[in-house]
Amino acid sequence: MTAMRGYVPAAETGALGVHSLDQFVLAVPDLRPAQAFYAGFGLDVRQSGDDLALHTFGHDHAWGAVVAGARKHLHHVSFGCYPDDLPYLQARVEEENGVEIVDPPAGFESNGFWFRDPAGALIEVKVAPKTSADRKMAGTWSSGPEGVAAAPVRANAPAVRPRRLSHMLMFTTDVDRAIDFYSRNLGLRLSDRSDAVAFMHGIHGSDHHILAFAQSEAPGLHHCSWDVAGIDEIGLGAMQMHDKGYRKGWGLGRHVLGSNYFHYVQDPWGSFAEYSADIDYIPKAQQWQAGHHKPEDSFYLWGPEPPADFAHNYEAGH
Ligand SMILES: [Fe+2]
Repeated sequence: MTAMRGYVPAAETGALGVHSLDQFVLAVPDLRPAQAFYAGFGLDVRQSGDDLALHTFGHDHAWGAVVAGARKHLHHVSFGCYPDDLPYLQARVEEENGVEIVDPPAGFESNGFWFRDPAGALIEVKVAPKTSADRKMAGTWSSGPEGVAAAPVRANAPAVRPRRLSHMLMFTTDVDRAIDFYSRNLGLRLSDRSDAVAFMHGIHGSDHHILAFAQSEAPGLHHCSWDVAGIDEIGLGAMQMHDKGYRKGWGLGRHVLGSNYFHYVQDPWGSFAEYSADIDYIPKAQQWQAGHHKPEDSFYLWGPEPPADFAHNYEAGH
């Protein structure tokens, strides 16, 4: 069915939920290709003990981490909450919803608590600063002035450096069950969905989606998405990666659900990193009217044909 899209203002107090996708952690057999890929993408990749920490330049927060593992897989996903909310969130997960609390993986002990989602993905909720966006991040489109050449020569193309992590998209085994689970346990809300995908936002103000799901036979990382200032940065980023040998991907295009402009670069393990600009923003205390959209009407507004393996889950083991 076709749904209305837009804001329905509603004052709301007392709602409980995480405020941010704090960090995604990826395990791969060899950290060197990860270092090269994410540094090439424009991230500040730092050595952190035996692991890699994925920062954006000028930002202390580690939006992602890469650890050594026998095979590439999504190691875990961390969500941040306010200090006062942590005990209430744990009580909701553990007592109200009967979800088993598990031990943290070695090296990731924290102030929070850990559990598995219905597809088996390991999830952490912890107290952390709010790193999701507090407002719509403005773009930088500006028309060149008369009488000067606005574009630099290619040798002087500026390096693209994403500003922050926007969201990640996880493969999951049952999208309906994932929407229900993440709503009831983490307080995320459905923004929009199609038959095999769903997009969820935080209740304290966030991008249209900080977490998204795609149907698969196993959990996994489909893509991480990084905010850049505008369409020119998306194109420059795609070229930056192309020049470094990362030539598979999808873009330039514009999504319908979230409205962001995108270019996806395929990583060394078959998943993707997305340059994203101008994603819709859902302010705190406003309710978004979620829609269930036809796939052919909502995947992308414009852009080239996606690659044949765009929705393939290489973590599913075949
Ligand atoms: Fe995305």
